[in-house]
Amino acid sequence: MKQVHPRLGVNIDHVATLRQARGEDYPSVVEAAVVCFQAGADQITIHLREDRRHIQDTDVEAVSLVTKKYGKPLNLEMGCHSEIVDIALATSPDWVCLVPEKREERTTEGGLDLNDEANFNKVKESCERLKIGLPNLKISLFLEANPETLKKASTLPIDAVEIHTGEYAKAFLHGEDVESYLGEFRRAHVLLNEANIGCHAGHGLTQESLQPLLQEGIFAEYNVGHWLICQAIFDGLGKVVATMKESCDKNPLV
Ligand code: PXP
Repeated sequence: MKQVHPRLGVNIDHVATLRQARGEDYPSVVEAAVVCFQAGADQITIHLREDRRHIQDTDVEAVSLVTKKYGKPLNLEMGCHSEIVDIALATSPDWVCLVPEKREERTTEGGLDLNDEANFNKVKESCERLKIGLPNLKISLFLEANPETLKKASTLPIDAVEIHTGEYAKAFLHGEDVESYLGEFRRAHVLLNEANIGCHAGHGLTQESLQPLLQEGIFAEYNVGHWLICQAIFDGLGKVVATMKESCDKNPLV
């Protein structure tokens, strides 16, 4: 039987964060997407936040052209804001991942609260608008591995759930026991499988904290950003410094 491997979605928001810090055109998110695909990434993930702190509206279109060129999916993360839903409808990504979004947060802090009725209705309304406008679009919801929440999610027109791994990843980084998280993830996988909903994971993952999840073999897709971009600094810094230093060494003072 042919083996199926988990997909790796690379979140390139942090490339845009660096660009926005200077207000120049570099580093380019388009170039970042190309590098990720050339390295084997299965998907590009970007989060168009309401405050536009990193990814800009024009990036969504530009990155979408790259994903189309490589024949790989664009996963657009977004809050349930009608203005952002309009942008998704106009850009037609392959996937939308609905996330909770607070302006004051540093990064997405947890999964959507579907047990709050107003929230649930907002998520339902966004899913319905998106599915009507883009019948081929796939939707995932960013959720905690909580059975009650997952049961509520299974009543919505969704294709996958992205389980929030942020707390697991933090515990792993701090050397704490992560067995209880792995147990929750296993139960979430069973529940989602029974409902025929895809089981994805993301947030806070590193090369090391990814390993126990890979061994579980329960997540079909991982979306990873911050650690990859951080590690890329150290995998590349020496090389670029050496190139610049070489230029200095070739040009003696007069
Ligand atoms: N998945 C979701 C839903 C997210 O909100 C984020 C952060 O934007 C990620 C995955 C990637 O998380 P990180 O950058 O911590 O790897």
